[in-house]
Amino acid sequence: MNIVVIVPAAGSGSRFGGQIPKQFLPLAGKPVLQHVVERFLSEEWVSRVIVPVSQDMLASMSRSSGENVVWVAGGETRQQSVIRGLAEAGDAELIAVHDAARPLISAQVFRSVVEAARATGAALPVLPVADTIHVMNDDWTIAKTLDRSRLGAAQTPQCFRADLLREILDRAVREGIDGTDEAGLAVRFGHRVQAVPGDPRNIKITLPEDLEVAESYLRQWGPRS
Ligand code: C5P
Repeated sequence: MNIVVIVPAAGSGSRFGGQIPKQFLPLAGKPVLQHVVERFLSEEWVSRVIVPVSQDMLASMSRSSGENVVWVAGGETRQQSVIRGLAEAGDAELIAVHDAARPLISAQVFRSVVEAARATGAALPVLPVADTIHVMNDDWTIAKTLDRSRLGAAQTPQCFRADLLREILDRAVREGIDGTDEAGLAVRFGHRVQAVPGDPRNIKITLPEDLEVAESYLRQWGPRS
């Protein structure tokens, strides 16, 4: 199998606070992003990892490149960064897109998402939602309450047949849509997207305390299964 992984990492990480984007903060001795890149390179199905980063990070990153890691300049939004990465994906059969700030990818989640995408065209890991989710009005009154039993929180890696991912991103550009993930775009354009069970440890580093949680998971984890 020939899978290319795109890791959009060109965000400024403003929700985290501080100067350094969250994907470059140290976790157990190396940047979060380095954990992500090395993790995918250790999967035999992965031929290349493409990392869109901000223009000012590009020069220093390119110097540390291995032959299977390609650094490219990201775009204005996450989606535009993925599109820039896609241009370097060559003839991959499947393309996975993974958040730069999720360093804890289990082999189990990766393989199940890849196998589901191979069978159906598009797949992502999801976690059942523990909290009740309300849709809010602008004035913070509650507009409606969603049926929690049918909600799933999206994780990454999200995996697609390469032709399908190209098609949905081309269409999103044509129609002026900027989505927060590719699975949502695929659904919006009428494609079947298969969910597989996610992993609660596959957290997105968003707040400073998430780094401590991720570090303790890494310590417990050992060889990832
Ligand atoms: O902000 P959020 O966590 O949803 O961003 C998701 C991912 O998209 C992050 O890994 C971030 O670095 C990346 N991103 C990007 N280019 C942008 C904005 C965000 O690659 N212009």
